[in-house]
Amino acid sequence: MSSRPSFDGARALAVAFLSSASLVAAAAGPCDLYASGGTPCIAAHSTTRALYGAFTGSLYQVKRGSDNTTTNIAPLAAGGVANAGSQDQFCASTTCLITIIYDQSGRGNHLTQAPKGAFSGPESNGADNLASAIGAPVTLNGQKAYGVFVSPGTGYRNNAVKGSATGDAPEGMYAVLDGTHYNGACCFDYGNAETNNLDTGNGHMEAIYYGDSTTWGSGAGSGPWIMADLENGLFSGANPKNNAGDPSITSRFVTAVIKGGPNKWAIRGANGASGSLSTYYNGARPTVAGYNPMSKEGAIILGIGGDNSVGGQGTFYEGVMTTGYPSDATENAVQDNIVAAKYATTSLTSGSALSVGSSISLRLTTPNFDTRYLAHTAAAVNTQVVTSSSSTALKQQASWTVRAGLGNGGCFSFESKDTAGSFLRHNNFELKVNANDGSKGFKEDATFCPQMGLNGQGSSIRAWGYPTRFIRHYINAGYIASNGGVHAFDAASSFNNDASFVVGTGFA
Ligand SMILES: *[C@@H]1O[C@H](CO)[C@@H](O)[C@H](O)[C@H]1NC(C)=O
Repeated sequence: MSSRPSFDGARALAVAFLSSASLVAAAAGPCDLYASGGTPCIAAHSTTRALYGAFTGSLYQVKRGSDNTTTNIAPLAAGGVANAGSQDQFCASTTCLITIIYDQSGRGNHLTQAPKGAFSGPESNGADNLASAIGAPVTLNGQKAYGVFVSPGTGYRNNAVKGSATGDAPEGMYAVLDGTHYNGACCFDYGNAETNNLDTGNGHMEAIYYGDSTTWGSGAGSGPWIMADLENGLFSGANPKNNAGDPSITSRFVTAVIKGGPNKWAIRGANGASGSLSTYYNGARPTVAGYNPMSKEGAIILGIGGDNSVGGQGTFYEGVMTTGYPSDATENAVQDNIVAAKYATTSLTSGSALSVGSSISLRLTTPNFDTRYLAHTAAAVNTQVVTSSSSTALKQQASWTVRAGLGNGGCFSFESKDTAGSFLRHNNFELKVNANDGSKGFKEDATFCPQMGLNGQGSSIRAWGYPTRFIRHYINAGYIASNGGVHAFDAASSFNNDASFVVGTGFA
């Protein structure tokens, strides 16, 4: 049996770590707290910080588009925040993807690109997309770091995990997430899943789910909720349909906790930047057949369902899996540790500043195309040669009014100058000018984050919801394109030039 120290016991250990002269730089991390509680981490994943006080190894690996080389990102100091500056240097003037999220537990339970399952990912071989390395910037105690921004189609997995819970064995897990980045599709998960990428039946998963899906269970209000993905069901409590005690989440940072053992499990949650954990469910397994006992298989997934359902979106900053059923006291100490890490938002944009309300033009920088501007003809987005003597109609078609980002106020939206209420948006990765229908999906698809131009000129403008994708012209039409990929418009050739635009004063 595991020992169950009191809350004060776990606290005392944290204080002992902090006050030990030889470990001054090594304040206890979440996994030190789980270990002292008798429920050690069997996997610890984070692109933002070390999760053990003494950890100095690699947190994650990035690959850059310019030459396909990789580099590992480590903490600035033992137990510290990721060295985001080394990533920025390595990824300057090109694109970067997160290729590996290393396991800090020493067991080698790393997360890599998820393969095809019952459902195919977007890559040509059915694998999932990798996440952009720059989609989720934050600060921890004032130091910049990057989370893992999961767009629909993005996923990571490890099907050969050492030490994870199988069958009905007890385990715990937590993840720190972006409470404002979610959707209702299946399934933005982190946790225990099938080892063969298929749905092998009820009880074959035990993972944190975050989002506002109502296909299976739901909580109070309209979501998003922390629920448990136990396979063939997202559970908010014992009742498979609804637990009014599982609240809608409103905080920017969220600590989500799930734990499960023989005929018991719990959902807990908190604001990841302040306060303490609340218990949203604590009790028996669902009475539906297959969930008691459980048939956990022990793989670990991030951003997808156990059968590689790839529709979910969300942002992951850190998370762990444990062996044994952690005590509430241990989890409470972990929440204190997360709050002390001081997660905070930071700018999503860089380069030339855009002024909300101003009219702008976007001039191409690709050699031989640099007299053309991003424009539209009705709903279709194209490029046009525009000059001071062009018609008023053409000038308006090539002018955009800058608005605060409809889907995220840290970025921008571009309203059509000649069709008020219509915005530049992407749909199936094609740019369109469509009327704002007020839906969450439209607003997100119409939100763009400018950064310094990839080719050194002007700005490159990434899609907020798909940060691997930038506004690009290709054969005179507009897309959001990745630097290499399955679509013709994703061609790596000429990418930096085609995805860099000089922002100028609007023609109209
Ligand atoms: C990077 O790798 C991809 C896939 O193997 C390949 O298509 C592309 O040409 C490579 N890019 C460079 C710059 O080597």
